[in-house]
Amino acid sequence: MLTASQLLSTINSHLANLTYKRPPYQLYAPIEYALSLGGKRIRPVFLLMAYNLYKEDIEKALSVATGIEMYHNYTLLHDDLMDRSDLRRGKATVHKVWDDNAAILSGDTMLVLAYQYMADCPTEYLKSIIDLFSITALEICEGQQLDVEFENRNDVTEEEYLEMIRLKTAVLLAASFKIGAMMANASEFDKEALYNFGIEIGLAFQLQDDLLDVYGDSAQFGKRIGGDILCNKKTYLLITALKQANESQREELEKWLNATSYDELTKINSVTTIYNQIGVKELCESKIKEHYATALTYFAKLSVEKVKKQELIKTVESLMRRNV
Ligand code: IPE
Ligand code: IPE
Ligand code: MG
Ligand code: MG
Ligand code: MG
Repeated sequence: MLTASQLLSTINSHLANLTYKRPPYQLYAPIEYALSLGGKRIRPVFLLMAYNLYKEDIEKALSVATGIEMYHNYTLLHDDLMDRSDLRRGKATVHKVWDDNAAILSGDTMLVLAYQYMADCPTEYLKSIIDLFSITALEICEGQQLDVEFENRNDVTEEEYLEMIRLKTAVLLAASFKIGAMMANASEFDKEALYNFGIEIGLAFQLQDDLLDVYGDSAQFGKRIGGDILCNKKTYLLITALKQANESQREELEKWLNATSYDELTKINSVTTIYNQIGVKELCESKIKEHYATALTYFAKLSVEKVKKQELIKTVESLMRRNV
């Protein structure tokens, strides 16, 4: 049984050795750039940890873990273009260093590469892994579509928001756990429990991402603070603020949501002030705790020895307290 940090170094050195020496080099340069900027690597680490709950020979799952991380990085290239985000992992995003076309086409290339790595798994698991990976990838596009559509709506409900983040974020964490368990030949029961565990962890993770987008420190978080406010993203914070606002707070929020020309910092500061008055940070934190508690109920059902479970729980717990 390896620790999370041992698995992280394993996946990091594996990723560092990937090079794409094929012309045209400008297609592959953004891929190497994106992968060189690090990131938490939680998806491949979770995949390997789930595998490691049942089996020791984790090198067998390395290619598939690489596929998951490649896929995640592809979603980030397109997401940053869609969200007009100029900063990621503390560095300029691909569409800023290169241009929009680079983010689109190098992103597409990463999606293909991700499939190649995913398909590099034992034949007995090939169909089931590709099936799960494909439905997951479709769901992520569905979630991203809803996320964008919600920018233009001010009546998004909490249920709609939760379904949107389940699709855009949680299913990939859930699939990471489940694919690890599939490759380790875990029982049907454990695979489902790990999937559901991943969904709840993923919901908590996206809630925390929304929270850090307003209350994080850009130097640590590596993204621009207030980006979601500028895009009118229907985050848990905004939906809750709109629900709980008094008349004048609602008027002010709606004024900012409908404004077409404004000073960016003034909008961020004004919306954040209303969030602070209403206390949405604390409400979001308690929502995160709820989903984490539900996640633990699924995790408790796994037929795995306690010592093996502890490493995974330690990792997930520190992720819940993250500020990066
Ligand atoms: C960012 O994911 C996209 C979301 C789903 C919020 P991460 O926070 O895992 O990004 P990196 O890979 O660590 O940079
Ligand atoms: C990202 O959600 C979800 C996917 C990349 C599929 P966000 O748009 O909130 O992620 P960040 O904040 O840009 O990392
Ligand atoms: Mg984004
Ligand atoms: Mg987005
Ligand atoms: Mg975000």
